Amino acid sequence: MANVTVIGAQWGDEGKGKLVDWLSNRADVVVRFQGGHNAGHTLVVGNITYKLSLLPSGVVQGKPSVIGNGVVVDPWHLLEEIRKIGEQGVSITPDLLVLADNACLILPLHRDLDQAREAAATNKIGTTGRGIGPAYEDKVGRRAIRVADLADREALEAKIDRLLAHHTPLRRGLGLPEADAGQILADLEAIAPQVLAYAKPAWRLLDEVVKSGKRVLFEGAQGALLDVDHGTYPYVTSSNTVAGQAAAGSGVGPKGPGYILGIVKAYTTRVGEGPFPTELDDEVGKHLGTVGRELGTVTGRARRCGWFDAVLVRQSVALNGIDGIALTKLDVLDGLPTLKICVGYQVGGQTLDYLPAGLKAQAGITPVYEEIEGWRESTQGARSFRDLPAAAVKYVRRIEELIGAPVALLSTSPQRDDTILMRDPFQA
Ligand code: IMP
Repeated sequence: MANVTVIGAQWGDEGKGKLVDWLSNRADVVVRFQGGHNAGHTLVVGNITYKLSLLPSGVVQGKPSVIGNGVVVDPWHLLEEIRKIGEQGVSITPDLLVLADNACLILPLHRDLDQAREAAATNKIGTTGRGIGPAYEDKVGRRAIRVADLADREALEAKIDRLLAHHTPLRRGLGLPEADAGQILADLEAIAPQVLAYAKPAWRLLDEVVKSGKRVLFEGAQGALLDVDHGTYPYVTSSNTVAGQAAAGSGVGPKGPGYILGIVKAYTTRVGEGPFPTELDDEVGKHLGTVGRELGTVTGRARRCGWFDAVLVRQSVALNGIDGIALTKLDVLDGLPTLKICVGYQVGGQTLDYLPAGLKAQAGITPVYEEIEGWRESTQGARSFRDLPAAAVKYVRRIEELIGAPVALLSTSPQRDDTILMRDPFQA
């Protein structure tokens, strides 16, 4: 298969950035297809750490990269991220980055709304506060401003009016000051030339790339359990995060995504509110959080931690059509005497092998655990499967068996080269 799609198979933060960076070496183009700057992708190369939220991780390797139509783009953030990464020696020219001209924009009023709603809610979602949800609402509400509108003052004015007809009453209701149409127009016009320099019909470029037999790497953000349809709704993000979105969010057609690589952490974490059946509120939970340095890249919030949940990942394998997984952060389990894997759910006297859709059922889950022996040795930085202790190999094999997908890659530290390749997704 020529193309590879990388998606998070849990609640995000599985280590996609590192794997995309590593795989982008083998790809010709890297594409983001959903989400926005709510994502936090950390890449460690030697002693430099790159933190990306919106730019495809391939840019660090100098790979041509595309921000697809499925992404919601905060244009100020985009320019700032380009500036910051430029200071780290990575120059993002319009030759390197293409921004889909039909992508929708996130404006300051989306961020205001996101934050005001979260502040007012008794039942918070725990969003990143970056305006993602409100921007997608305006997209499906057919009142969003798109990248191409920046080139057309008349269209822009009319669109701003339409947008404010919706936002003004909302802002009033939340006690926010009225947004000024003239100011929005002036602010957008001020950055338009810089943003438009990157704008192109991305689907067309990708069509040429695919037809010429080049390899595309699709980079998902967040994780399958944050998917707006398939995740733990309403505690989800506002886009489809599953692999199928790689096609719609970039315009390549349903055969485009190719090999689906699910990124899976050797335990489970989640940021924000919502059900989490294997969450640990004890010393082991603290161990995972501390050793795994589980702090959100975007918000700095401490991530909730728990045991590996094979029920959720098996569901994710089905929802995404995962061909193989990349298992990350196995080393965080080093030294724990006994490990637990969740193999089923007890809900209201029933045993389930999937996550039920109902909120009450999700909140009332008691995990059924299987215990497995831990290992004392360090697995950090291992570069061959043979270097792993026998108990760690057993843990990995058991995970494969329970989720019904093979391990294609193992990541043993945040460093780019600490990666064990078991089967090459681009050759599969
Ligand atoms: P939003 O995407 O900012 O609307 O946030 C909705 C939910 O998705 C919250 O629980 C966030 O913590 C979560 N979320 C959004 N982006 C990420 C991510 O990149 N990693 C992990 N969780 C995320």
